[in-house]
Amino acid sequence: MAKTYKLAFLGGDGTGPEVALEAKKVLNAAAAKFDFKLEWESFDWGGDRYLATGEILPDSAADTLRQFDAILLGAIGHPDVKPGILEKGILLRLRFELQQYINLRPVKLYPGVWTPLKDKEPKDIDFVVVRENNEGLYTGSGGFLKKNTPEEVAIQTSIQSRAGCDRCLRYAFDLTRRRSRTKTLVLVGKTNVLTYEYDLWERAFHEMGERDYKDIKRDYNHVDACCMWFVKNPEWYDVIVTNNMFGDIITDLGAMIQGGMGIAAGGNLNPEGVSMYEPIGGSAPKYTGMNIINPMAAIGAGAMLLEYSLGQVAAAQAVERAMMKTTGERMKSMAAGKMGLSTTQVGDTVAQFVTDGV
Ligand code: IPM
Ligand code: MN
Repeated sequence: MAKTYKLAFLGGDGTGPEVALEAKKVLNAAAAKFDFKLEWESFDWGGDRYLATGEILPDSAADTLRQFDAILLGAIGHPDVKPGILEKGILLRLRFELQQYINLRPVKLYPGVWTPLKDKEPKDIDFVVVRENNEGLYTGSGGFLKKNTPEEVAIQTSIQSRAGCDRCLRYAFDLTRRRSRTKTLVLVGKTNVLTYEYDLWERAFHEMGERDYKDIKRDYNHVDACCMWFVKNPEWYDVIVTNNMFGDIITDLGAMIQGGMGIAAGGNLNPEGVSMYEPIGGSAPKYTGMNIINPMAAIGAGAMLLEYSLGQVAAAQAVERAMMKTTGERMKSMAAGKMGLSTTQVGDTVAQFVTDGV
């Protein structure tokens, strides 16, 4: 009997629902092709619901989502809601409550996709960033002293636990082994300034590597230097592991060199629990309802969902091949309104290629 998976669909704000629907279309095509079943349930959490009801997220949200095999998220961010409220109240809250302690960001240049890096091709840009996703500067630890006075002080503390390092590093080492490319894991940090947090990261990194991953080479880059190498020699990288804040920053740079926000996908993973996949580009509200936004990033997030949460690796690879054929042969650009196809046509094309088995 065909296996059935339960998926939560969080369209979210702006163009989020549109792109997520195209991902759903492609995943349904993959399910039909690879003989498994997907049962979808939609949730309306996002800016519109917040503006209508005053509630950002029901308290039961995380428990509800724990009943699913995986979550597909469109985007969070509404032009009429002050920045930070929905991001913290929905996205970060779910990442924390569901203990999605890995933010996995593949940086891969697909055929036909324009990169701003001169003379770089798909073979040169193919690495993965493992970003710690539950700790660091994102814990919200800190506060104000003497707020709204001339002597005001703001404190924002980075909290990094050894256990938090270890579980993230373990995932990164295992991934490096599975990818089996250069077998090199690069820790990205700032050991010359963050002499406490990165002392901890470094010790955890080398102790684990020495003990359990003798087959994996260990390297280290300062985060600022890493930004230079992304631009100059992206081919040096295979797997990178870094903290939450640095990971946030370098993955936007990574998104740009792989062709921009239209194509960059990510996963918030709890390898022992329920994970949430999203295009990383945001809700792009000005394009809402125009059928011109690029759904490729959402489709890529869907491919990650197939691989990392459902273990349907062949289906995930089929979706990725279909995406590459679409970028290589059918799309003029990754930018909204310039693709040469509409949002729904991109989804249709990828879904058809999955069905055809390219
Ligand atoms: C990301 C985003 C989020 C983050 C924002 C929206 C809170 O930029 O997923 O990278 O900083 O993690
Ligand atoms: Mn970000």
